[in-house]
Amino acid sequence: MGTMVTQEAALTVDRAREAVTAAGLAPSLHNSQPWRWRLRQDALELSADLSRAVPVVDPDHRQLLISCGAALLNCWLSLRAAGLDVEVAELPDGPDISTGRLAVLRVVGRRPPCPTETTLAEAITRRHTDRRPFTAADLPTEVIRELRRAAEAEGCWLAWLTDPDARLELSVLLTRADWIETHDPAYQAELASWLREDPAAPDGIPRAATPVSEGPRRSEFPLRDFGGASGLPTSSAPGGPPAGAAGGAGAAAGDAGGGARLPESPEEAERRARETPVEHPSVLVIGTDADGPADRLRAGRALGRVLLAATAAGVATSPLGQAIDIEATRALVRRATGGSGHAQMILRAGYADPHTPPLPATNRRPVDDVLTIAADGPSPMARS
Ligand SMILES: Cc1cc2nc3c(=O)[nH]c(=O)nc-3n(C[C@H](O)[C@H](O)[C@H](O)COP(=O)(O)O)c2cc1C
Repeated sequence: MGTMVTQEAALTVDRAREAVTAAGLAPSLHNSQPWRWRLRQDALELSADLSRAVPVVDPDHRQLLISCGAALLNCWLSLRAAGLDVEVAELPDGPDISTGRLAVLRVVGRRPPCPTETTLAEAITRRHTDRRPFTAADLPTEVIRELRRAAEAEGCWLAWLTDPDARLELSVLLTRADWIETHDPAYQAELASWLREDPAAPDGIPRAATPVSEGPRRSEFPLRDFGGASGLPTSSAPGGPPAGAAGGAGAAAGDAGGGARLPESPEEAERRARETPVEHPSVLVIGTDADGPADRLRAGRALGRVLLAATAAGVATSPLGQAIDIEATRALVRRATGGSGHAQMILRAGYADPHTPPLPATNRRPVDDVLTIAADGPSPMARS
């Protein structure tokens, strides 16, 4: 009997591959997927893959750690959803992420998942970054409360920016960060290196994930501008990305479908701009009390959990990372939230237009590229 229980609780290769696949579906900066996994007898180990760092925009690996934290959460949820009891040790080798492991997830037995764990695990494959305009509907406070609980469950705080002055301040910070990045050739070159024209590319940001509206994008908050960096001609901004406040990503509108379109007259463009409603998304800031590697990992877990809880609630989201990239604006974001501690991520949240098709998933690297089986790991023949 005893051996049967052990057998059941074991972390098999199949189970580990499933968990690492779920981990890989986590969001990451520029879809860089900066993680590596190693399977031992009863544990999965997560390490940073610094060869996939994005050094210009993320020189201190903050967003790399946040990305890895989100992957860690997914891995844990996948194991929990399968009924495994898991103990997690973070940074077991100390804070140096270039040599030490980020986390070890050890399977210590069986324990049925709670309903929240099941719900969140089921949302992993349905979560996508949705950069399209949202409808005018506000998020109900119950949903905000749920998202706040999700952040708090991972030891972080979540601020919901409702005060018009705070929202304006954040919008200004995002615009300023955007302007700085738009005018930084090193930033532009790095971003371009992560944009993918080949829809089969296993990493990076595909064209289809940065949908462009047919006219100017009108939102209170500029999205990260992926359009300008590719150097592709755009129909409404032939001179390249505008740096204007109301512009942002969508203003560099092009034709994602590649179909030919007659150029619009200035009058037509102006009329459409007038008629396009301005988007007022909900804006959430996730933060931590301190700012070491463990806090950044934690922020990643919180980001992952908030995004999955949003997905489960039918809420669409996309990170507004520009103001986090730059240390000076990041500090001011914290001030805009009125909170203490450190702002780690800004999210735009709302409802997708029910008439738009579901977002296609962006690709991930194959599991064999990110998972190695240690010499003392389980035999590939051992089945779940
Ligand atoms: C730390 C971090 C920062 C990000 N910053 C931005 C951003 O500034 N703008 C944006 O549109 N998406 C941002 N993203 C979303 C990623 O581009 C996205 O997760 C990735 O391309 C994979 O796509 P998916 O989320 O749809 O699976 C960020 C994600 C993470 C984890």
